[in-house]
Amino acid sequence: MVMISPSMLSADFGNLRAETEMLNNSQCDWLHIDVMDGVFVPNLTFGFPMMEAVARHARKPLDVHLMIVQPEKFIDRLSDVGAYAVSVHYEACPHLHRVLQSIRAKGMKAGVVLNPATPVSVLEDIIEDVDLVVLMSVNPGYGGQKFIPHTVKKVERLRALLEETGSKALIEVDGGVNRGTGRQLIEAGADVLVAGTAVFGASDPADEIIALKNLA
Ligand code: DX5
Ligand code: ZN
Repeated sequence: MVMISPSMLSADFGNLRAETEMLNNSQCDWLHIDVMDGVFVPNLTFGFPMMEAVARHARKPLDVHLMIVQPEKFIDRLSDVGAYAVSVHYEACPHLHRVLQSIRAKGMKAGVVLNPATPVSVLEDIIEDVDLVVLMSVNPGYGGQKFIPHTVKKVERLRALLEETGSKALIEVDGGVNRGTGRQLIEAGADVLVAGTAVFGASDPADEIIALKNLA
């Protein structure tokens, strides 16, 4: 069954504890935490105080998506917060291998995120060092954007690369995921779906998570 990682970016920040508890009691698998720096992406979100507040109440693994330059600066602190997985952008890391090694050295799952214009083939020489590949299906920076349909082909290509190399990395897709796009992604081979607007914009977020988990 597909895993669901609701994006906290679409949660009500005034009621962060209640939102986190709602997710604890839901069938979601992870909590997706979007960190932006206003440099790598044209927007800001939140930093450590906010992540610590979520972590204090969360009973699900934290799936941290770093949309920042120089992500290596923060790996130790993310480990202190208790992050389960840390994903860094391919486009932000000239020394990607080193960054992934240092995430794993802290006992966290190491993820690589690819922007819509970055081909899956760039992973060929790094795939053994990756636990999670996140394919962006929107340009990172904002929740609530429209899904880029070409992503379905990228998921198929990535699934083929994982099979070819025997990699056990999980395929996560982030951006514009809803019941319609989610179904296509699952068919193409996605393991984890991030959903912000689809979950928090629903009249019953916990029900929407069940619907997304049962698409296939
Ligand atoms: C976009 C973020 C996403 C976003 C997803 O930059 O990485 O995680 O919050 O939100 P929706 O599901 O609304 O596209
Ligand atoms: Zn994200």
